[in-house]
Amino acid sequence: MIDYFTEDRSAEQVNGRIGPATSPRLAHVMTSLVNHLHAFIKDVELTEEEWAAAISFLTRSGQICSDTRQEFILLSDILGVSMLVDAINHRQPEGATETTVFGPFHVDGAPERQMGDSISLDGKGETCLFEGRVLDLDGNPVEGALIDVWSDNEDGFYDVQQPGVQPPFNNRGIFRTGADGRYAFRGIRPVSYPIPHDGPAGQLLDALGRHPWRPAHMHFMVTAPGYRRVITHLFVSGDPYLESDAVFGVKASLITPFERVDRDSETWRAAYDFVLQAE
Ligand SMILES: [Fe+2]
Repeated sequence: MIDYFTEDRSAEQVNGRIGPATSPRLAHVMTSLVNHLHAFIKDVELTEEEWAAAISFLTRSGQICSDTRQEFILLSDILGVSMLVDAINHRQPEGATETTVFGPFHVDGAPERQMGDSISLDGKGETCLFEGRVLDLDGNPVEGALIDVWSDNEDGFYDVQQPGVQPPFNNRGIFRTGADGRYAFRGIRPVSYPIPHDGPAGQLLDALGRHPWRPAHMHFMVTAPGYRRVITHLFVSGDPYLESDAVFGVKASLITPFERVDRDSETWRAAYDFVLQAE
């Protein structure tokens, strides 16, 4: 008897078509995806209008993407998917620096700078000295660690969001630790900013009564031979959006005091030691 499509057995029937040469992992992932997708559609009894709206939403999400705009990462971020994938893939031992979202604004190929250099090329914002060490779980310094950093500027935009306005690689740089594991560089005290919300991700936030703001943070990606890569942020303590980050990226261990170097100074200091887990 031919097994024609039925509402009751829909997922089973779709999954039954997976061919014998399919990779086991792909078959496992797609079977689960189809099961959950069909269960979801049955749960909400999706209307044809809602189905069409979903197709339009995804189409517009793709169409707004460019080399410097990644709407699907934004959607993943605001739905908590990015943080969930991060959590599953980085279950870490006590003491190792915690990870958070990569975000859509990292750029490969930022210049390697000398320890102590400034990454702020536009001269805007309040200067902040970032310093600390890269350590292993036993507290030993890690030599040859690459610290790739990036932040927004005083106006709340990354350089790639303002080509022609900000110099390329503004507020970006890579620093390499020596034998003492120490790092130091000058940037700005980052400011809170809304994720790009003039597209489908922003419309969804709006429809759900959610704001698009992220608490101020400096991005770090720390790599070293023999250690697991750490992608994380340092969040500015006291930021009003720490408890409602639009992308759920905040972890208590990453909230860092930013203190004035002296009472009347406009220069700030943030100190943090990164602790890497051996591979
Ligand atoms: Fe960011």
